[in-house]
Amino acid sequence: MNVQRFDKLYTMSVDDFDALGDDTNNLNFVFQGSSNWDMYFSNVDKNDNADEINNVFLLSFKDKNQFEKTLTSMPKDNVIDYSYEHYKEEGVNEYYILTDMIEQKKKTKIKKLQPEEFEQECTTVWSFRRRGNWATHNSKYRGNWAPEVVRNLLLRYSKEKDCILDPMIGGGTTAVECKLLNRHLLALDINPNAIELTKKALEFESEYSPKIRVELNDARDLSLLKDESIDFILNHPPYADIIKYSEKQIEQDLSNIHDLEKFCDEMEKVANELYRVLKKDKYCAILIGDTRRNKMYQPMAFMVMQRFLKAGFELKEDIIKHQHNCKATGFWVNKSKEANFLLIMHEHLFVFKKC
Ligand SMILES: C[S@@+](CC[C@H](N)C(=O)[O-])C[C@H]1O[C@@H](n2cnc3c(N)ncnc32)[C@H](O)[C@@H]1O
Repeated sequence: MNVQRFDKLYTMSVDDFDALGDDTNNLNFVFQGSSNWDMYFSNVDKNDNADEINNVFLLSFKDKNQFEKTLTSMPKDNVIDYSYEHYKEEGVNEYYILTDMIEQKKKTKIKKLQPEEFEQECTTVWSFRRRGNWATHNSKYRGNWAPEVVRNLLLRYSKEKDCILDPMIGGGTTAVECKLLNRHLLALDINPNAIELTKKALEFESEYSPKIRVELNDARDLSLLKDESIDFILNHPPYADIIKYSEKQIEQDLSNIHDLEKFCDEMEKVANELYRVLKKDKYCAILIGDTRRNKMYQPMAFMVMQRFLKAGFELKEDIIKHQHNCKATGFWVNKSKEANFLLIMHEHLFVFKKC
């Protein structure tokens, strides 16, 4: 691929990029794709993880002047530049990067509290082309789930004032929906950053004020909860080490585990605890994707699903969640043809019942 290099690396949030609308035509991309940050920063040749998802956009431009002209027309505080030198030794030498991984400088303004168009799903295939951005929802937490997923689950499997558990809360999507839909929530995560982000995401006025507790806790040990005390569980674990949430800084972080069997062993401990704390006849939903290793498909979701069955759950639904991102364009389309692999564009949303 023939890509020009410039001496600066520019970043801006994906939301802000989207807001540019037709202006993006001026960007004159030679390449646009979505990929895994770590792949580019730590191991450029690791194509096995080509199916990974997050909101990183890799861009380069045919015309530097045009690019810089476009940048000057963007709101100043949305654009951050880094020197190329800063990343060179990390293996970045060909791309401009447009990303939503940078910390948002602006304070969140709430445009709308509830979704304008929302219809409950009634099939086993869920597809949300544009992730909702009502209340404080955004796509900044890497690999976070769409609020539409959470809203659908909460509406179908719980009722107002129920006690909900999300043992891996991440950026707080579930917490925001619980506040909007009047569900009490225990929100846990092993990463203090996630705890902070979730508390921040809850800083808005809602017509309800359910009890929402946000705590640092390992999902494999829920001793802070009594047996059969929870009405509905939503779980969105790391997909092994596809996205690393703490870069090995936090020992208990399951996203540090590369070996799939070992990852499943740890998820089995989570499943045992979730089974214990869930009330009888209630539901537990888990969203998880598959991966590719040594060019072969790894059915990680099914492997984890089997551990949940082993813990005692019964499978109520297997929902296919369509993943929308830019990896189906440009670079990855070519890669998938050259290296003969299909881009993984779905995840499994399993709903289990404690019978
Ligand atoms: C896929 S993210 C969850 C994203 C979340 N659904 C959202 O919308 O922001 C997985 C989360 O699991 C957390 N995690 C990893 N290992 C954990 C553990 N042992 N106990 C609790 N949380 C853990 C990570 O810190 C990360 O925030």
